[in-house]
Amino acid sequence: MAASETVLRVPLGPLSPSCYLASFFANSTPSLSFKPASRKRRGLRCTSSYESGNSFHSPNSGLKGKQLQSSTRCKCQRNDVEESIRSTLLPSDGLSSELKRDLDEMPLPVNGSLSSNGNAQSGGPKSIEDEAWDLLRQSIVYYCGSPIGTIAANDPNSTSVLNYDQVFIRDFIPSGIAFLLKGEYDIVRNFILYTLQLQSWEKTMDCHSPGQGLMPASFKVKTVPLDGDDSMTEEVLDPDFGEAAIGRVAPVDSGLWWIILLRAYGKCTGDLTVQERVDVQTGIKMILKLCLADGFDMFPTLLVTDGSCMIDRRMGIHGHPLEIQALFYSALVCAREMLTPEDGSADLIRALNNRLVALSFHIREYYWLDLKKINEIYRYQTEEYSYDAVNKFNIYPDQIPSWLVDFMPNRGGYLIGNLQPAHMDFRFFSLGNLWSIVSSLATNDQSHAILDFVEAKWAELVADMPFKICYPAMEGEEWRIITGSDPKNTPWSYHNGGAWPTLLWQLTVASIKMGRPEIAEKAVELAERRIAIDKWPEYYDTKRARFIGKQARLYQTWSIAGYLVAKLLLANPSAAKFLISEEDSDLTNAFSCMISANPRRTRGRKKAQQPFIV
Ligand code: GLC
Repeated sequence: MAASETVLRVPLGPLSPSCYLASFFANSTPSLSFKPASRKRRGLRCTSSYESGNSFHSPNSGLKGKQLQSSTRCKCQRNDVEESIRSTLLPSDGLSSELKRDLDEMPLPVNGSLSSNGNAQSGGPKSIEDEAWDLLRQSIVYYCGSPIGTIAANDPNSTSVLNYDQVFIRDFIPSGIAFLLKGEYDIVRNFILYTLQLQSWEKTMDCHSPGQGLMPASFKVKTVPLDGDDSMTEEVLDPDFGEAAIGRVAPVDSGLWWIILLRAYGKCTGDLTVQERVDVQTGIKMILKLCLADGFDMFPTLLVTDGSCMIDRRMGIHGHPLEIQALFYSALVCAREMLTPEDGSADLIRALNNRLVALSFHIREYYWLDLKKINEIYRYQTEEYSYDAVNKFNIYPDQIPSWLVDFMPNRGGYLIGNLQPAHMDFRFFSLGNLWSIVSSLATNDQSHAILDFVEAKWAELVADMPFKICYPAMEGEEWRIITGSDPKNTPWSYHNGGAWPTLLWQLTVASIKMGRPEIAEKAVELAERRIAIDKWPEYYDTKRARFIGKQARLYQTWSIAGYLVAKLLLANPSAAKFLISEEDSDLTNAFSCMISANPRRTRGRKKAQQPFIV
């Protein structure tokens, strides 16, 4: 839970038998106004009113000075509110046993025997998809009666909830996409606009404030007594920017995912008014400014600390991890599409374009690994000084791990996990590779090669349950030093080589993009054999993903949503275009100019560097 109580609040009115805000919010986005909260909690207070418009988010205009606007109060008795929230979050006993009975009765699915359109087969047991939809809906979190997100896990038997009762930004992405594909747009719109409110929040950890554009890792809706009147309650949105998270990790990926979802919302609904709002445009720019700020770094990749993405614990991914680079690239491409041209943003757009070119070149050239490249590294000269060095990062060939030599198939390749001076992280990280395909960070050939690699290494990367978060696991001394002896990240568990069903959706988008949906179909079919029976675990353990993860939550929302998105997209592959970015021809031209000027390709040949213009 958040250490500093920075909150977004909605007062709930005097005693009344029920909360009746839902219908009020159904057709209008509440406009929020703010005033500093009480001495007990720092933060802003908001009320809901019938006004709509652009006062939603105005980071540079002194939000804290704004006063409460006229309000329509939610008349809830404290117990009613708590009860109504609880009932939206926890499956009733009846449902659990019903689910259990359904599962017990359910035959092992045979390919094609289950509905792929989300509808129950009449008379028969509930389909896996229907069950998934029920569970996804039960995970919805409401704020002032409006759906605004889904909690991370809804495991009724879990003894320690930690922060799994919160709405995680990254976890909501597959939920949001499932709702978009189903034509249920309100929850996504609300999520986008409410999380935008949290972005401009004042946040500190031990007196230090992170950058202004930061999006929270997660948030929670709390019902608290109204200041000065204990007979009344109010709802508050309580964000966690990492200041309360285990390890105090920075949620670098949150803002990037937010931009990606915003673009998907516009593409899917055709409603561009959200992305065109002044406050939303400001939000995009704040994220970009934070990411594009000058620093000490030599590389165009984003420099981050360990645990700043889906892998949110120490796993040796500090520096320039692929996952962040793929999301960064994707967010830049999406933002470029959405930014409305205006005089003030010319510099930002120029910086964005330059970064896109440099980033794609850097990743495609230096992160790419296949048999040929391993052989090149194996024969690297080291300690090369000067501009035409081939081994630019001074990689010592002894770094090539023994597992890799036999592991790399003749056909196929992948983008490595990280690159730093004298260090290549040769591990395969799934999300980064899959999203490099989806966003066209990888070239067309590389994208096919990544899928070739996945097919060739199916037994290792998928085995009994899709999909390993990374490969291979760290063991022994390496595990001890790099994870800090983390008992949750033991070899082939959790982030250290565990299998995460949520990754199904990214695999599906990537394989549809490359015209190879059969890869995703195979993975979905495999998942369907166990996932519902196993109660939708967060992750699986062991080399072959045979066990439900040691500390895995059950009814993990993004496992459920990831499965649903995969099914919906396989049933309607053209919908994947809401998520895909095709390669831009300006970028391709710039990229080929840079490629031909690279010493790795031209050493020995005398060729003048060609200028390029974006
Ligand atoms: C774990 C995962 C993280 C996820 C969170 C909530 O911490 O590592 O990626 O967002 O759980 O599900």
